Amino acid sequence: MGLYQRHILPRLLHSGMPSAQQSTLRSALLAPVRGRVLEIGIGSGRNIPFYGRDVVQVIGVDPSRPLLNKAKSIAVWSRCSIRLVEGLGESLPLQDNSVDFVIMTWTLCSVADPIGTLCEARRVLRPGGVILFVEHGLAPDSEPAVQHLQNLLTPFWRRLAGNCHLNRRIDQLFKAAGFQTEMSTCGSLMRGPKALTFGYQGRAVISDAA
Ligand SMILES: C[S@@+](CC[C@H](N)C(=O)[O-])C[C@H]1O[C@@H](n2cnc3c(N)ncnc32)[C@H](O)[C@@H]1O
Repeated sequence: MGLYQRHILPRLLHSGMPSAQQSTLRSALLAPVRGRVLEIGIGSGRNIPFYGRDVVQVIGVDPSRPLLNKAKSIAVWSRCSIRLVEGLGESLPLQDNSVDFVIMTWTLCSVADPIGTLCEARRVLRPGGVILFVEHGLAPDSEPAVQHLQNLLTPFWRRLAGNCHLNRRIDQLFKAAGFQTEMSTCGSLMRGPKALTFGYQGRAVISDAA
């Protein structure tokens, strides 16, 4: 791992994630969360302050030790128990049917194998469990110019931003992994260029057909 990945990228990811608009999205997304929770790609722990008193435990998985160290310093102030684990979404260190909620915020864009990660999430979710997500991804076909720019930028962007893809179809990834989704937002999540801010927010449950 190079100097950029080890020292600079964790700082950029940490300082690039706390905008007021993001905090509003995080707070709304996490309000219904309760029980035992898995957060995939917990990063520097920006969601931790938004977990409420009905959350028993959050298990936060992320491959980046520098980001997990930052999350640790936020976790000490948390109302609920936080367990931070260095690991990958593609091979979760959890038993089958063991969590009530899976949380992913701006993570599916970055994992190496998004469908593999979602299949793992499906494995660890208890029957009736829910994934809540805010993710950015490819604009719809009705926005061909934005799509074009996203496809053009992604090869460069992912090198700079920790494998972050601007052009993943989040709805299709959930479908391919056996989930049905309810999108509360499918559009620009925040102010800024559409190519960078187009996103998907919602919930996913295991599909009846899966
Ligand atoms: C843009 S950051 C978002 C961090 C955090 N979810 C947030 O909302 O602030 C993407 C995160 O995905 C993590 N990540 C990258 N590849 C991963 C993988 N294969 N499994 C789990 N997390 C991964 C990164 O280390 C990073 O923390």
